[in-house]
Amino acid sequence: MNNNIKVLFTEEEIRDRVKELGQEITRTYVGKKPHLVCVLRGAFIFLSDLIRYIDLPVTVDFMAVSSYSKGTKSTGIVKIIKDLDESIENRDVIIVEDIIDTGLTLEHLVKLFWARNPKDVKICVLLDKEARRITRIGLDFVGFKVPDEFIVGYGLDLNGFYRNLPFLGILKNEDISGGENL
Ligand code: IMP
Ligand code: MG
Repeated sequence: MNNNIKVLFTEEEIRDRVKELGQEITRTYVGKKPHLVCVLRGAFIFLSDLIRYIDLPVTVDFMAVSSYSKGTKSTGIVKIIKDLDESIENRDVIIVEDIIDTGLTLEHLVKLFWARNPKDVKICVLLDKEARRITRIGLDFVGFKVPDEFIVGYGLDLNGFYRNLPFLGILKNEDISGGENL
């Protein structure tokens, strides 16, 4: 195991919270068929666990974006690497994202999606790094609030690694500077 990682939420804690989120979404969308959009790559594990706790007819689609950062600062430039495969017109869209930091990525996606005539767009994030927000964006479903630290595991990466950790941890004493954060 990597000594530079301090456990923030265990597998069990994540499972319990993701289950609650699934139940919350189920209650919110009774009688509807929500369309979940997973923001790749970080949210793929979260999405796959979450949908199994939603007791409704759901559909899923995937979008890949990359948010560029300089050091630990986000530049606000969001590049669409892979667009949705299906139309979201008249759909109840739920954007499923791993973590919200500055909010620039989600702000961009929400604007883009509303331009495609959905019935509704809501946001579901596993982690909220509230201290770093520079946008005013409303979150509908939030797993955990997290401190202003770099978090890896359960899908979240540093330079592509650590996604396979079954828990969420804080990465310490490592160069976490910059690059393209997928
Ligand atoms: P935002 O646009 O600043 O809100 O950044 C959101 C994106 O940055 C997320 O989708 C992640 O890909 C990445 N990110 C922000 N903080 C972390 C972190 O602590 N660990 C891993 N990725 C992060
Ligand atoms: Mg991401």
